[in-house]
Amino acid sequence: MREIRPIVALDFPSFEDVKAFLALFPEEEKLYVKIGMELYYAAGPEIVRYVKSQGHSVFLDLKLHDIPNTVKSAMKVLSNLGVDMTNVHAAGGVEMMKAAREGLGQGPKLIAVTQLTSTSEEQMKDFQNIQTSLAESVVHYAKKTAEAGLDGVVCSAHEVEAIKSATNSDFVCLTPGIRPAGSAIGDQKRVMTPSDARQIGSDYIVVGRPITQAENPVEAYRQIKADWNA
Ligand code: C5P
Repeated sequence: MREIRPIVALDFPSFEDVKAFLALFPEEEKLYVKIGMELYYAAGPEIVRYVKSQGHSVFLDLKLHDIPNTVKSAMKVLSNLGVDMTNVHAAGGVEMMKAAREGLGQGPKLIAVTQLTSTSEEQMKDFQNIQTSLAESVVHYAKKTAEAGLDGVVCSAHEVEAIKSATNSDFVCLTPGIRPAGSAIGDQKRVMTPSDARQIGSDYIVVGRPITQAENPVEAYRQIKADWNA
């Protein structure tokens, strides 16, 4: 179930930046990339079509959260774009997640965000009025995600063990916040190296700036890929 390629977060502001970045790689090297809100809202669905036409795989990270019918219709559109994986907020509920799956169909992977990693336990208790620990809330949402028939969740690498033991070992854990040993952490708080993420059972890792901002992005990508597969 583990994806061999690290997913590269294409956190670029424009189509041109993406084209220039992808052009650094040899034509036969096919990547798995993450397209997030900034790029999608700037460049539109055309960016997904372009990246797919180049033979790369796409995780479209739009974190849908709306009434079930709207999410189902939106997912149909994303399915027609040929995305390989996309996501919703688990907080939208089991009915919404089931509707998302119906709209997307069975081909692409569908995962959910539990608690955003930018949410602290204090904020969760105060603002969302959820009076458990953050870790319990994450596991609760993961169990509901599995119940809705989704493939897995986006989570911190530190949460993988608890999530897999509360669901099952095939339940996908996709983990951002990955940093090669010795590289800049940036605004991430709790990071893990690719090889440690592998050890604890991550199925997919998402890596952005350590690759996109590297002096030699291709070399950085290959090193991270090698560490992930070591
Ligand atoms: O540059 P960096 O490796 O930190 O990029 C990580 C990517 O994963 C970014 O696109 C970020 O928005 C995303 N992400 C994250 N933490 C989450 C969910 C998504 O870092 N909990």
